[in-house]
Amino acid sequence: MTRLALLVVAVFIAGVANTSQAGNPQRGLEISEVCQACHGRYGDMAIDDETPILAGQHQDYLVHALKAYRDGSRQNAIMQGFAQGLSDRDIRDLAAWYSRQEGLVDLSTRR
Ligand code: HEC
Repeated sequence: MTRLALLVVAVFIAGVANTSQAGNPQRGLEISEVCQACHGRYGDMAIDDETPILAGQHQDYLVHALKAYRDGSRQNAIMQGFAQGLSDRDIRDLAAWYSRQEGLVDLSTRR
């Protein structure tokens, strides 16, 4: 293989790896049906004061929170039950969906 061909292959692989890391929001929506009763379709609804808004939350934060429920380092009886059945891919896709919804506003005071 020429060097150029190798480079093209390397860039392609990097691109694919990158997309899967980013999560697929469309699939996130599809598998979020069970979550909607409490968090709403867009994560902008909460059925009670105990339930947080997910819409517009940072993707990294959502991934971290769901993994913490799954491994038990964050304890909540309700969410632990729902997180237990999620794969890493499910978590990435769900986080991609909710983080893309209108929600958090950046009120940065940095100048
Ligand atoms: C029966 C209601 C209910 C369902 C269904 C539900 N959740 Fe939750 N969720 C909650 C509650 C209550 C909390 C707050 C728990 C706590 O205090 O840690 C929460 C917290 C979370 C958090 C943490 C948010 C934060 O700000 O730290 C995430 C992320 C989350 N839920 C995602 C999901 C996903 C994804 C699903 C579907 C797989 C789901 N939830 C299904 C009630 C629910």
